[in-house]
Amino acid sequence: MIDEVRAALLEWYARHGRDLPWRRTRDPYAILVSEVMLQQTQVERVRPKWEEFLEAFPTLRDLAAAPLAEVIRRWAPLGYNQRAVRLHRLAAHVVERLDGELPREPSELRRLPGLGEYTANAVACFAFERPVAVVDTNVERVIGRVFADRIGAGHGVRALALEVLPAGRAYDWNQALMDLGATVCIARSPRCLLCPLQPMCVGQPARSDGLLRAAESRQEYRATPRFEETDRYYRGRIVDAARALSAGEWLALDQLMEAVGLREDSGRFERLVSGLERDGLVFVDEVGRRLRLP
Ligand code: ADE
Repeated sequence: MIDEVRAALLEWYARHGRDLPWRRTRDPYAILVSEVMLQQTQVERVRPKWEEFLEAFPTLRDLAAAPLAEVIRRWAPLGYNQRAVRLHRLAAHVVERLDGELPREPSELRRLPGLGEYTANAVACFAFERPVAVVDTNVERVIGRVFADRIGAGHGVRALALEVLPAGRAYDWNQALMDLGATVCIARSPRCLLCPLQPMCVGQPARSDGLLRAAESRQEYRATPRFEETDRYYRGRIVDAARALSAGEWLALDQLMEAVGLREDSGRFERLVSGLERDGLVFVDEVGRRLRLP
């Protein structure tokens, strides 16, 4: 059964895999940038930004040497701006300690500051063709459905993802799982009729009696709050305002609080600003009650 799934998915990917620019390079730095961007941002928004970012900072050394404020500026409009700070720190670390070379092994990549398991595995596989499972939420969902009967206590999706990895084909296999998860085996209303794995899939949420769907809905598809009410929304607005400053300029905190619409909730505003400062995204002058990019 596993062999059939492997063959069907790889064949589907050869025909229907998306032509994405980061699949045309094996430059570990370029792949790292793409994976950090793709973690929280959709493919179509990442595509142009990835190219722009690499034009601005073509190598890991260029990124490490750039002022942090410029990196934060060039991260717009992707959001989750802390990723820009982490990437910059990581680049500096690799230049200082590793002579500018990203390591090839997932365990070594994992030891770099700010690199989680997902990104470490993605770089190891997509740049160095290491045989590792690259499991993001899409891949987790696909594997969880196709092999729903094999997952149980003590045997999670991650262990299974590693077990089903086809020898010598980790790159295509992992990219294929991502494409299937993004275009066919989507969270709500999966397109099972178009799925190459449909004959072998145990889950088939589109046809099942609803058991699997009920189980999934508890974890994954909970109602989310309106974006405009979230901390992330306000954090983004504050960083956007700081980005718009020119060099040497400051932004008064009171004016900023008003501008982002938090005049009625100054406690929350102060907490958000402190959080951004802790994350290295803004520099706050406490005495002058003003801020700018770091
Ligand atoms: N999401 C995360 N990594 C990706 C990749 N390499 N291709 C497409 N979508 C992704």
